[in-house]
Amino acid sequence: MDVSEPAIRVEGLVRSFGRTQALRGLDLEVPPGTVTALLGPNGAGKTTLVRILATLIRPDRGTARILGRDVVREAFAVRSLIGLTGQYAALDELLTGRENLRLIGRLAHLGERRARARAEDLLHLVGIAEAAGRPVTTYSGGMRRRLDIAAGLMGSPAVLVLDEPTTGLDPRGRIEVWELIESLVRQGTTLLLTTQHLEEADRLADAIAVIDRGRIVASGTDEELKRRVGGEVLEVRLADAGQASRARAALEPMAAGPVRVEGALVSVPVRHPSGAVVHAVRRLDAAAVEAEDVALRRPTLDDVFLVLTGHAAGADPEPDVWRVA
Ligand SMILES: Nc1ncnc2c1ncn2[C@@H]1O[C@H](COP(=O)(O)OP(=O)(O)O)[C@@H](O)[C@H]1O
Ligand SMILES: [Mg+2]
Repeated sequence: MDVSEPAIRVEGLVRSFGRTQALRGLDLEVPPGTVTALLGPNGAGKTTLVRILATLIRPDRGTARILGRDVVREAFAVRSLIGLTGQYAALDELLTGRENLRLIGRLAHLGERRARARAEDLLHLVGIAEAAGRPVTTYSGGMRRRLDIAAGLMGSPAVLVLDEPTTGLDPRGRIEVWELIESLVRQGTTLLLTTQHLEEADRLADAIAVIDRGRIVASGTDEELKRRVGGEVLEVRLADAGQASRARAALEPMAAGPVRVEGALVSVPVRHPSGAVVHAVRRLDAAAVEAEDVALRRPTLDDVFLVLTGHAAGADPEPDVWRVA
């Protein structure tokens, strides 16, 4: 293992499935001991990337290295360096948490004794030691996901990849998993985390790479990304969501970037915040749009995504842009 190498280095990665281009020349670097969030909407190519990193599928073009080892030519070595926790857990529901980890340890050729010891350590680390003797069917969503992360750690990988670790969890489960990830980070685990949640990337990651349609469209710290939006965001809460398009038309002239509408909430990036609230109220009045609240706030990563990609993070990818003609 070469310590001068980045933990993950991806260059020009291309991968198609039939006519769908999942990755279209993706570059990414993750330094050791850091957490990078790969942030992007459904269908952006996140899982395709992590499956290539974990040697589960091959790229069509480009290279990916884990600590200097090539995922295609040195796949065997890479498998011992990387741990992947998938979107869809690879747990056996009928086995207990403990039995699942021991089984995974044996599959990873840890040997019976080391598999047992490692399983006990990890059950404590992820906070499910008390439930270790119960079948997974009795676990909550957050407990399953924590066990799944423990499974990814069984082989003591140098790099851990978490593919959407909180997707599908209720708010409590999400916080449980966030706290576990934060404790892994404190121990210096190198982590690549994929997420659709901008606040999750914001909370957990040192660096954020924004992926859209198979390419990285921006990267930096959350502060750097937020600066891309420019100034602040004017947020208007309408009395009636039915007036949203009229509100948008009234506010568009003062916008420094794309205006976002979500139900009764209209978000307008503004370059010059001073006087913006008064200005907006006058414009809404003139258009006979009733606002319940008008306020300025700091930009969130949602705003960043819209500015960078021209579409909202939750928007479905447009098939005609997506597919090879
Ligand atoms: N095995 C597959 N067969 C066909 N299309 C696939 C396959 N895996 C992924 N895709 C397509 O590739 C694109 C990227 O998918 P994916 O990497 O799963 O995105 P994400 O994880 O960001 O949601 C999507 O359009 C998806 O439908
Ligand atoms: Mg995915």
